[in-house]
Amino acid sequence: MSTVPRLTLNNGVEIPQLGFGVFQIPPEETKDAVLQAFDAGYRHIDTAQSYRNEEGVGGALKESGLDRGDVFVTTKLNNAAHAPEAALEAFDRSLERLDTEYVDLFLIHWPLAMLSNFVDTWKALEDIYGSGRAKAIGVSNFQLPHLRRLQAETTILPAVNQIEVHPYLTQTELTQFGREHGIVIEAWSPIGQGRVLDDPTLTRIARNHDRSVAQVTLRWHVQRGHVVFPKSVTRARVEENFDIFDFDLSDADLADIDGLNRDERTGPDPDTFDRIPPA
Ligand SMILES: NC(=O)c1ccc[n+]([C@@H]2O[C@H](COP(=O)([O-])OP(=O)(O)OC[C@H]3O[C@@H](n4cnc5c(N)ncnc54)[C@H](OP(=O)(O)O)[C@@H]3O)[C@@H](O)[C@H]2O)c1
Repeated sequence: MSTVPRLTLNNGVEIPQLGFGVFQIPPEETKDAVLQAFDAGYRHIDTAQSYRNEEGVGGALKESGLDRGDVFVTTKLNNAAHAPEAALEAFDRSLERLDTEYVDLFLIHWPLAMLSNFVDTWKALEDIYGSGRAKAIGVSNFQLPHLRRLQAETTILPAVNQIEVHPYLTQTELTQFGREHGIVIEAWSPIGQGRVLDDPTLTRIARNHDRSVAQVTLRWHVQRGHVVFPKSVTRARVEENFDIFDFDLSDADLADIDGLNRDERTGPDPDTFDRIPPA
């Protein structure tokens, strides 16, 4: 079984560079999907309050018999809970659903900059971090101006920024900022929800390495220093996505993949996304 490398976050916490994402896995299927991922070797799960499947993650944690300390668990604040008091309460409920005393990483899911003062929300996350119930805190879908405000107005810099990244959206500015300031980039929709899988350049590189396009794309992320957590409910794909640590892409391969960027999102644009789901 592959050994997953670990990155060290800016507070010293270690994070496995490959994990398993559970977005769009129905609540009743999540426990089995996560158990399947554990069985394939994954020890890092990315969920969110809005996915409504934290209980399934918690159930899998318990049923797996794995030591809690051997699994890295991330969850994210629901958009409806940005007010600091609401954020603290929502976090408590996450711990209950996950049936755990702490999470490894807690993120603000979206900045909602038109609706919320995310700086106040971040201060609630700083309190949670201070309590020890989140081993690290970070943000998701934050753009440069949002990060600069946190830098100027708060005391703890996010450990990660979880953003959409794949070969069609390489996010050079945000990744450069992350490198300069010690903020690890977590790449969501790392294979563009499947959209990059027919790409001719990726297909050529995959053929040269005798690998699948998904594997080459995930390997590009890893070599670029991103954390990734592809989602799949298909056993063969779960295993395939995990099997990316015994080959290397060349500098030329990496540059060719970088060159595929066309600033194309599969998900919402954080500058205009202001959706607060019903509570
Ligand atoms: N912070 C945010 O705002 C945000 C937003 C979106 C996602 N995320 C996180 O990022 C994770 C991953 O992103 P994602 O789920 O949007 O997209 P993704 O992982 O890029 O793609 C998932 C899709 O690709 C298919 N797939 C997976 N591996 C494959 C393979 N080897 N070959 C062919 N098809 C494959 C899956 O199908 P099957 O399941 O049918 O196999 C699924 O339809 C999420 O689960 C979530 O944890 C975060």
